[in-house]
Amino acid sequence: MDSTNIGYLVQLAFIVGAALFVLGLHLMNSPATARSGNRLSATGMVIAVLAEVLLVAENGVQPINWVIIVVGLVVGGGVGLRLARTVAMTSMPQLVSLFNAVGGGAAALLALNDFVALNGQRVLAGGAPGLDGWRTFFILADVLIGSITFTGSLIASAKLMGLIRGRPILIPGGRIITWATIVVGLSVSIVLILAGAGAVTYDSGVLSILLAIGLACALIFGITMVLPIGGADMPVVISLLNAFTGTAVSMAGFVVGNVMLVVAGALVGASGAILTRLMANAMNRSIANIIVGGFGAGEGSQTELSGVGGTVREVSVDDAAIQLAYASKVIIVPGYGLAVAQAQHGVRELASLLEARGIEVSYAIHPVAGRMPGHMNVLLAEANVPYPQLREMEEVNPEFERTDVALVVGANDVTNPSARADRSSPIYGMPILDVDRAKSIIVVKRSMGRGYAGIDNPLYANPKTGMFFADAKKGLQDLVTAVKAL
Ligand code: TAP
Repeated sequence: MDSTNIGYLVQLAFIVGAALFVLGLHLMNSPATARSGNRLSATGMVIAVLAEVLLVAENGVQPINWVIIVVGLVVGGGVGLRLARTVAMTSMPQLVSLFNAVGGGAAALLALNDFVALNGQRVLAGGAPGLDGWRTFFILADVLIGSITFTGSLIASAKLMGLIRGRPILIPGGRIITWATIVVGLSVSIVLILAGAGAVTYDSGVLSILLAIGLACALIFGITMVLPIGGADMPVVISLLNAFTGTAVSMAGFVVGNVMLVVAGALVGASGAILTRLMANAMNRSIANIIVGGFGAGEGSQTELSGVGGTVREVSVDDAAIQLAYASKVIIVPGYGLAVAQAQHGVRELASLLEARGIEVSYAIHPVAGRMPGHMNVLLAEANVPYPQLREMEEVNPEFERTDVALVVGANDVTNPSARADRSSPIYGMPILDVDRAKSIIVVKRSMGRGYAGIDNPLYANPKTGMFFADAKKGLQDLVTAVKAL
């Protein structure tokens, strides 16, 4: 096949790959089709990588570069596969964050390489061919956004892994450093773009130093941006950094003239931005409020005990089992505690037992229950809970009034009625699950500990509520045993 035909073939493969990405994303709309969506998108990526390898072969490559390509594919693919297969569901946010760091870092390196190669030929100074104003703009956008993502994501995953303190870390003069990096980074970028466009002339050594300063500013900005954010705000920040990764990759596509990178990056950037917004909306907070630190007092807030301003009624496992076994309609409300305790299989077993007794069982899913988007859906799918039993908030809320028992397992903030009534509450206005409208409520949690927002939950002092203090996994196992014995 001659080189023109190979060129057409590669472009066609890129279009097919891009179409598969879009189709895959569309299928991820529903848990039932999400797996095939993932497979379809992965197929698109394989096609794109093969097409790129074909293009590289056609353009002629040194043998040593083949070694680099093959080693990169095998090592990168192997590590990715192993991590994805072995990661615990609760560690998903930190894994995504690590992947963001790798993606952003790789995109930045690509642009740095391009700059060094072209600047080395002294094509930048005086606006000589090869590196015009636009190309310099894309290189800078890629280097800066990619580097922010790199260090920001590393800090985020280190916080979530517990390698550094998860609570907000305030370094002295942090705000000033952040602003200084913004001002200096933008200034050197403007000078570099002007040089690329030929409006000003500097020798290549000066231009390299300016780029190095810009790079250092971006790396520092990533750190100072994420350090002061509380551990539990990390999912939103990670989603934001995910959008940054996509944008950096898209810029890299412009730098090297690869349409596939532009499309893939734009899709990741756009979906990351939409997801970040949805998460912020569902928490009734602005993204800016999350970035500068809002109500999230970090994971530590969960250890504080709440004073709910009323009497709390405790129930035994047998009382709870009797209530459940003789109900006709039960709604299970899963939350972060269920994820931490890995109690998804227990909850599924209890639900099956109740169904076998003719009880109608469903699950109420709040959009920000847990600590990452779709957290509860993923966990319950892992335990093979049938999809139709998962009910979204708007759909399930009107049903609580007809519900005999709302069984709240490790959820707290998403059931807090003060979000509806108490204007002074930090979560006022956040849509919640109307658990308190059920005929009776059983709450499974270990103590009177608070949730992510660090505030009291008046639901626990509601006369209809019975508190069953237990670790979610152990508590559900005991409930299963008790229901079986009835
Ligand atoms: P939370 O309000 O965080 O409450 C979780 C509760 O689980 C805690 O009160 C804790 O009480 C209990 N718990 C912890 N470990 C447990 C265990 N082993 N067994 C039983 N219970 C346990 O959870 P939620 O209701 O799911 O709300 C999610 C919160 O996270 C919201 O405020 C949301 O805004 C925020 N958030 C969500 C996201 C996303 S995208 N999902 C992102 C960022 C922030 P005890 O200590 O007494 O057991």
